[in-house]
Amino acid sequence: TRLAVLYGGQSGEHEVSRRSAASILAGLDREKYQVAEVLIGRDGGWHVDGRPTPLPLALRVLRAQDVVFPALHGPYGEDGTVASLLEWLGVPYVGNGVFASAAGMDKGVTKRLLAAEGLRVSPGVTLRPGDDLAPADQRRMGLPVFVKPARAGSSLGVVKVTDWARLPAALEQARQIDPKVLVEQGARGREIDVAVLQHPDGRVQAGPPLEIRVAGPGFFDYDAKYEGGAVFQIPAPVDPATTEVLQDRAIRAFHALDCRGLLRVDFFLPAQGSAEPIVNEVNTFPGFTTASQFPQIWQQAGIGFATLLEILISGALA
Ligand code: DAL
Ligand code: MG
Repeated sequence: TRLAVLYGGQSGEHEVSRRSAASILAGLDREKYQVAEVLIGRDGGWHVDGRPTPLPLALRVLRAQDVVFPALHGPYGEDGTVASLLEWLGVPYVGNGVFASAAGMDKGVTKRLLAAEGLRVSPGVTLRPGDDLAPADQRRMGLPVFVKPARAGSSLGVVKVTDWARLPAALEQARQIDPKVLVEQGARGREIDVAVLQHPDGRVQAGPPLEIRVAGPGFFDYDAKYEGGAVFQIPAPVDPATTEVLQDRAIRAFHALDCRGLLRVDFFLPAQGSAEPIVNEVNTFPGFTTASQFPQIWQQAGIGFATLLEILISGALA
């Protein structure tokens, strides 16, 4: 089977994608797969197996594959643009299609779709260029709020605001990444991720909840994510009923966004025992190093990394 791993990309998560791809490349069965490495540089230049490659040639390489494994995070990769390219080329690919990728990349759109499905989300307002946060919205949300670029990942550009005087600077910082910005009420609660995996027969399974514990006073920001500032506990110490609710909500989110293959749904679980979990965001291609949440969750559930890759690739080919 000819398989290309497509990674890198022009987003701020370029480096994260390289790490995800390195794990995938190391985990693929080389007896079974004839592997091509297709790297998109930060500048948008394409490289096949380490050599700079003109775009038309790179596209021919992709089209010649039996399956493509996109390992891209963030805009120009995880947002449906690359899925669209692969649709045009007519080559099967792992994971989410155009719609789910585009909808899942935009935190404002995600929130509206999940709310329409009846899932609980934090109150938030989308600000477009020139928009200010209305005083009524300030009162409604209260402090703290999180200011987030609408379309980004790995917490890039996300600022926690604990004083309204700091809001303009936070908006400016987020707007450097995306002119469309979300201001969201800070959700209180334990931070829990649930991984959703679709098997080649179509069955959708949610894994054991993972709890993120961040060292120190900060939140689960870029450094905590990649510089070892957080630890994961799998399964999260929650009661069976709560686990069931979390898994149910994750699978509903998967279907609400019309996902395929995989999704990681990130929740805040309020302290009160029976409170409805709040969906913080989704990741249509979650971090994929062997130490990342998604592979760790499946590892804990008895699905090792190589098997996980097999399930995803077989699903793409089914
Ligand atoms: N966006 C990063 C890769 C994650 O959520 O895992
Ligand atoms: Mg993310």
